[in-house]
Amino acid sequence: MEPIPTMEWTVGSLKLLDQRVLPDREDYIECTDVEQLAEAIVTLAVRGAPAIGIAAAYGCVLAAMNASRNDYEADFHRRLGVLAGTRPTAVNLFHCIEIQKDMFSRDPSPEAAPDTLLSSAHRMFHEDLEASRRMGEFGADLLKEGSTVLTHCNAGGLATAGLGTALAVIYEGWNRGLIERVYADETRPLLQGARLTAWELCRAGIPVLVQPDSAAASLLLSGEVDAVIVGSDRVAANGDAANKIGTLSLALAAESAGVPFYVAAPVTTFDIGTATGAGIRIEQRGREELASLGGKTLIPADALVHNPAFDVTPAELITAIICEKGVLEPGRDSMASVL
Ligand code: MRU
Repeated sequence: MEPIPTMEWTVGSLKLLDQRVLPDREDYIECTDVEQLAEAIVTLAVRGAPAIGIAAAYGCVLAAMNASRNDYEADFHRRLGVLAGTRPTAVNLFHCIEIQKDMFSRDPSPEAAPDTLLSSAHRMFHEDLEASRRMGEFGADLLKEGSTVLTHCNAGGLATAGLGTALAVIYEGWNRGLIERVYADETRPLLQGARLTAWELCRAGIPVLVQPDSAAASLLLSGEVDAVIVGSDRVAANGDAANKIGTLSLALAAESAGVPFYVAAPVTTFDIGTATGAGIRIEQRGREELASLGGKTLIPADALVHNPAFDVTPAELITAIICEKGVLEPGRDSMASVL
């Protein structure tokens, strides 16, 4: 399986596969400054925890290139603040920005900083790609022959530097001849499952059935599914994991059906500084995402909306966390031991 070209650094700009228009079109956008990249992150042209983090790492290079020479350090940090203000839940964003701040502090000059930060961003890109390969291998060891797997949202190559987290496991399971079919929840309201996961799996020739999110519980109870595999935006120290809204319902249904529920996440998604899922800030998104579809109004003008982008699955509902260091029991001891 070839990595998906989610993002690419070209001289002085970050080129992003525009995920807002998939699967209709495979368009690219070019970001030459932090404001353009921040807009791309907020509107989900680039999305998924590891991809947001790595894109932001390249965004720090743009900040170092474009910061005013009169007030270089302060203007660089102001630009990083714009990136950090885009989306609150995926810890990868903050993790990657912190690494770049540290690299910048070694020689905060306009002559040195852009190159130093670019090498560091490339390193993060390659580490993420390698992490996804290893997650795929560890995760596929958990699958039995003829497996039907259910996934939610998009935790694929589009959400990372190229192979994915949950989908890396599915790709490797498919390579080993273990996967029969994949159910992809459509993932309301932005349809990352229908638009992006199905696009990726079709591209790889893996049989995929897109279903409404509301079909997942009865499918699980029917005994059709051998494993649920999802990604995560932030795993707290006790193993509670934030992921796309609707993940918690899946975990509850999987527990009730006796189906293993796996979270695949690189260690860059672990947040040992946050004790439990209660400390994870959940992004609330706008009314427009629920209020219309395909140009049609869906809800009355007077109705308010509740549109959280993520929920938190408690550690006790997670069978195991698959990371690039191995398969872990959710919780501080096992997670801290691999950091
Ligand atoms: O709002 P999104 O599309 O950025 O949400 C993405 C998810 O919830 C993914 O499952 C998560 O980031 C893990 S990606 C490997």
